[in-house]
Amino acid sequence: MTDRYAVVGNPIGHSKSPLIHAEFARQTGQDITYTAMLAPLDGFAMAVKAFQAEGGRGLNVTVPFKQQAWKVATRLTDRAQLAEAVNTLKFEADGTILGDNTDGAGLTRDISENHGISFEGKRVLLMGAGGAARGVLLPLLLQKPAQLAIANRTPEKAVELARHFASYGQIEGGSYARLADRQFDIVINATSASLSDQLPPLPPDVFAEGALAYDMMYGKGLTPFLQFAQANGAEHLADGLGMLVEQAAESFLLWRGVRPLTQPVIARLKSC
Ligand code: ATR
Repeated sequence: MTDRYAVVGNPIGHSKSPLIHAEFARQTGQDITYTAMLAPLDGFAMAVKAFQAEGGRGLNVTVPFKQQAWKVATRLTDRAQLAEAVNTLKFEADGTILGDNTDGAGLTRDISENHGISFEGKRVLLMGAGGAARGVLLPLLLQKPAQLAIANRTPEKAVELARHFASYGQIEGGSYARLADRQFDIVINATSASLSDQLPPLPPDVFAEGALAYDMMYGKGLTPFLQFAQANGAEHLADGLGMLVEQAAESFLLWRGVRPLTQPVIARLKSC
């Protein structure tokens, strides 16, 4: 029987997930359907339960429901527990709703495998302290960077986040001003600033020699952060398209037990 999956969000119209998972299914010979599902802003939990009752096997969860999905899950992976956000639900045969968060694994895999840049011993800067930042912190720390600094417009949120993750590695939080005279090898934008065509107040000399600038957002052309990084000496530039495909592959692995190849799907999306 064909197993049913979907991505649920609001809005959901422009999601690339159905295309990505259709490619994964074709490539691995898995018999699944994967659709996009719009849930009402006040009706997420009901939409999840209805999908489960109809025999659905799993959901990806996107804006604005990741925190609600964390609450709907009846069992959580460690990385989802710490992130307090879930992007993948798996409906088990015994009724368990397993919640996972594959965003951080998607980010670290894209950087280490697709861009060939290791985190080990590197100085990493993560900008932003909202849901997107929180979702990737544990997998980032598990990559064993020498330092992980979080900078945020509202510094207290970065300090609090660093405290929450302190037992997992060398991590600190603070303001952008505190970055003066410091350099980082990997600078990741997890703010939503690019959405409004804005740039976090980053000192221009923050990029170390050979640095990677990574924007978790993607779109046509370079985001304002990537333009800034290019103008200020970052050697490698990457947007979040690879992360999108890698987090999808991690979800597919959790659901189906097979890891699909991501490179052909990334290449296909780039050419769209
Ligand atoms: P998301 O789920 O995308 O992380 P969020 O939880 O609303 O969304 O968090 C947005 C993040 O982007 C926050 O860290 C926010 O900074 P504040 O905590 O100070 O609000 C950051 N952000 C948004 N616009 C920004 C801008 N123009 N410059 C710098 N940071 C910005």
